[in-house]
Amino acid sequence: IQIKEELYSGKAKTIYTTNDPEVLVSHFRDSLTAFDGKKKSEAEKKGYYNAQISRKLFEMLEDEGINTHYLGMFDDERMLVEKVEIIPIEVIPRNIAAGSITRKYPFNEGDEFKEPVLVMDYKSDEYGDPMLNEDIALALGIATSEDIAKIRELALNINSILKTYMENQGLLLVDFKLEFGWANGEIVLADEISCDTCRFWDAGTRESLDKDVFRFNKGDVSGTYEKLARRLVPEIFEN
Ligand code: C5P
Repeated sequence: IQIKEELYSGKAKTIYTTNDPEVLVSHFRDSLTAFDGKKKSEAEKKGYYNAQISRKLFEMLEDEGINTHYLGMFDDERMLVEKVEIIPIEVIPRNIAAGSITRKYPFNEGDEFKEPVLVMDYKSDEYGDPMLNEDIALALGIATSEDIAKIRELALNINSILKTYMENQGLLLVDFKLEFGWANGEIVLADEISCDTCRFWDAGTRESLDKDVFRFNKGDVSGTYEKLARRLVPEIFEN
């Protein structure tokens, strides 16, 4: 497969078209942003670690019967993905209170929810990703009630698979962000699942192994992403 031209460049990934109209290449870059792009930096090998973590988690979810846009790897930091029409909703399953939910509601960081809490935000840099409910999604015309029900079901299913998978690696899945897209009339998981889009805590020490290290200057970003990669994709460190 051959890369043709840049289609879109986001905060951490650049998407390219290829000679196959159904296939795009997603390049995981070393750039990092937080707080709506107000904080910016670069971390060496971050793109590589995130691409490999995403690859592993998409492969695992596909094995569990979840349809994703993942097709394979173009190279170590570029993923081949199915062209999908992204639904502009950020779906955030939360198992433990952290981040924005502790600022907006009376939860304390580290509180464990009895049931996963699913939050949906309207994906819009212009409007600052405001929280969305079903009525607003319908009024915006971005999803139907059936689509929202399907998205909820998929997100909760993915959360339960991923949470168990992480627990088996000694990690807590605190919260994470998912995006879905339409492919051939079907809703599939798109975007990425990486240290940039998830909160992972070490189950023993509750140390952050994700972008919170960058957001809150908790230490070395590259080293933290490497630590998580060593646990989730040990095969890339062999020989
Ligand atoms: O900021 P907040 O606490 O709401 O984030 C919840 C989860 O969703 C975190 O894991 C964060 O990394 C992820 N997220 C994201 N992209 C956004 C907003 C949140 O990946 N635009």
